[in-house]
Amino acid sequence: MNILVICLGNICRSPMAEGLLLKHLHEDLKFSAWKVDSCGTSNYHQGELADPRMLSTAKKHGIKLTHRSRQLTVEDFDEFDYLWVMDEQNYLDVVSICPSKKDKVDLISNFSKSYKGQMIPDPYFGDQNGFDEVYKLLDHICAEIVQGFNLKY
Ligand code: 4NP
Repeated sequence: MNILVICLGNICRSPMAEGLLLKHLHEDLKFSAWKVDSCGTSNYHQGELADPRMLSTAKKHGIKLTHRSRQLTVEDFDEFDYLWVMDEQNYLDVVSICPSKKDKVDLISNFSKSYKGQMIPDPYFGDQNGFDEVYKLLDHICAEIVQGFNLKY
């Protein structure tokens, strides 16, 4: 199974979601071959590591983020089974690239049990607290997603 997580800049929310999905999935051997990647709808930060504030939050929790920002491509719609976005604007931007494959696109929270429909707020223009909040939310969501996969596979 291939999962692509997507936000605007690919330096805050989606690299953290990638790290957390990998952490939760790879705690279980049966998911060890699953591929997870992340990208942005924009190319604003092409080639950059995650924002230093996100790196700092991740490090506090023992997670090392090594992903470098890249922009979503039309090929991603073939390569990945799921394209999971963080908010409504991401959804509109992603679907507009390849409307015929919009069934693969959804809010990441819609795959968790208790957070359905919830947006992951963009922390970029805020302070460190916002990054810690995004971490907490994504950690709960990713843990629940993997629990759901556990029942399914
Ligand atoms: P992200 O956050 O979409 O979670 O990576 C942002 C990063 C950069 C910008 C906006 C949001 N920016 O405008 O540069």
